[in-house]
Amino acid sequence: MIISGKLVLITGASSGIGAATAKAMAKAGARPVLLARRTEALDHVVAEITSAGAQAWTYSVDLRDADAVAAVAQEIMTELGTPDIVINNAGAGRWLFVDETSPEEAVQMMAVPYFAAFNVTHAFLAAMLRRNSGHIVNISSAGSRFVWPGATAYLAARWAVRGFTEALRADLNGTGIGVTLYESGVVSSSYWEHNPGSHERLPKMGKLIPEITAEQAANAIVNGIESNRGLIVVPFMMRLTYWLHAAFPGIVQWLMTKTGFHRARV
Ligand SMILES: NC(=O)c1ccc[n+]([C@@H]2O[C@H](COP(=O)([O-])OP(=O)(O)OC[C@H]3O[C@@H](n4cnc5c(N)ncnc54)[C@H](OP(=O)(O)O)[C@@H]3O)[C@@H](O)[C@H]2O)c1
Repeated sequence: MIISGKLVLITGASSGIGAATAKAMAKAGARPVLLARRTEALDHVVAEITSAGAQAWTYSVDLRDADAVAAVAQEIMTELGTPDIVINNAGAGRWLFVDETSPEEAVQMMAVPYFAAFNVTHAFLAAMLRRNSGHIVNISSAGSRFVWPGATAYLAARWAVRGFTEALRADLNGTGIGVTLYESGVVSSSYWEHNPGSHERLPKMGKLIPEITAEQAANAIVNGIESNRGLIVVPFMMRLTYWLHAAFPGIVQWLMTKTGFHRARV
């Protein structure tokens, strides 16, 4: 898909991968629309985009609230039109064992990213289908392929995003709307400050895969959409791990489990 001139809606664009993707999209000639809750942080990203000579718009919304998402989607469609590309990137969630996770926090972890992606897709899909063109990108993690100990509800929510993406791809087969799933290893973003105690639980095997910057993640997303890729996996070492996992799923899963974080023995 050609990105230049396209209206691109990016959720979770106030920091990290979303903010970097908004900037990369603007650089590629797209018109980014940034969604998140923190108005000041969103304005800061837009100021960077406009100072580089491009245009961008922000809408502050809590994506857990389906009614608020529907209302903001109407506002966007009235003011700017139907997005050509929707990037469901907003996400949060600490890495915790089940017994460390309150049921309320587990619900919140499913609310963003999974229900946020559902709400946003639901709000725009009818208009995209009427136009019969567009692209939906869902951001998940390598944790939706294989798992590691000590991050149970986080991982379940990433499997939900992957399941949603694959089901959506089947639904939209034969329409003009494409679907892409992004999965990567660690991105050195503000995620780790926003979800303290998580990075420490990375399995030792995962540490063999180099961390990438939010800008590298954003460039992979832009390139992946431009080349109509169904699955974006970065960096190269993660792609290698996926190939190994495809050939020997049991071995890769065993290594992730064995080299993962374990509770102190009581
Ligand atoms: N960092 C990694 O290593 C990594 C690797 C693979 C995949 N990912 C995925 O990439 C996505 C972005 O993560 P990041 O690394 O960029 O982390 P981040 O800097 O913490 O960004 C998270 C974004 O989500 C938004 N958000 C959270 N809750 C929201 C809500 N209720 N309503 C609206 N927006 C909400 C935040 O904005 P506000 O707080 O302003 O609302 C923020 O813009 C996540 O889905 C994450 O799982 C991250």
